[in-house]
Amino acid sequence: MKHILVAVVLLIQTGILQAGGTIKNGGVFYDTRGEVINAHGAGFIKVGNYYYWIGENRKNGVFVSCYRSTDLVNWEFRGDLLTRESHPELQNANIERPKVVYNDKTGKFVMWMHFEFRRDYSAARAAVAWSDDIEKPFTYVKSFRPFENMSRDCTLFKDTDGKAYFLSAARENYDLALYELTDDYLDTREHITTLWPGGHREAPTLLKHGKYYFLFTSGCTGWNPNQMKYAYAESIRGPWSELKNIGDETTFRTQPTYIVTVQGSEKTSYLYLGDRWDPKNYFNSTYIFLPLKFSDAVTPVFEWQEEVTIDAKKGIIH
Ligand code: GAL
Repeated sequence: MKHILVAVVLLIQTGILQAGGTIKNGGVFYDTRGEVINAHGAGFIKVGNYYYWIGENRKNGVFVSCYRSTDLVNWEFRGDLLTRESHPELQNANIERPKVVYNDKTGKFVMWMHFEFRRDYSAARAAVAWSDDIEKPFTYVKSFRPFENMSRDCTLFKDTDGKAYFLSAARENYDLALYELTDDYLDTREHITTLWPGGHREAPTLLKHGKYYFLFTSGCTGWNPNQMKYAYAESIRGPWSELKNIGDETTFRTQPTYIVTVQGSEKTSYLYLGDRWDPKNYFNSTYIFLPLKFSDAVTPVFEWQEEVTIDAKKGIIH
């Protein structure tokens, strides 16, 4: 009996057993092996019954790692999707903010990310990779500057009509450039617009709620958190609303990376994932999960919670 109790306590401590689908914010996140989750600046994608958490790793020549979960609380490590060995160009690279979407026409998962040479941020390029299987290593295609624009913090968004968009910080992070991707999602087809020129926004993430598109971004203060702002639009091409503050002045000490749409049997909810970076030690950086709610069609509500309870099947987050 004593052994069983000790085992249960250990499982709870390592995060393997988390009662009631509850995430406790502020601590370290462990995967089902009991190892620290390394998936920073992440993106999420749902494939079948699984939500995939795909993010920066940086340990032992790994760039992008992949975890999966059915409940968004217990995460199982599934493998490394991109490493230093994936392509000669990656020997001296630094990869940030990977995001993945699925292309219905080609049957491929396509990853877009921010590419740099080591710790220097002057390359300012986007990079692209693809895979037939979300859990298997991706084939690296190239790094480039879309339409010659610098490209740093970025996000990827697939719309319900199958069109996909890449949004990234351009012109030394002064602007946010929005691009439509080609049909295969492996390139940019069009530079649609430059949002808030001179606005200095980064860490973008897009979602669609009802008939509106919402864009959430941070300001540019390096690894230090700042005020998140959002804007909305009826067409992704614009016009976009003014940027408005949301949450507190440090976004609860996080920088946005992704907002997961959780479509359940009872409702659709949104789960914000922010990075709580440790500027002194990147590997001490953790994650904060918070519900993002809406008080009306165009007003998102974002508040601090120590604990977040998720019923992914029903789509209820509180
Ligand atoms: C942040 C950015 C991170 C990382 C960092 C480096 O502004 O969001 O992804 O690039 O700067 O200082």
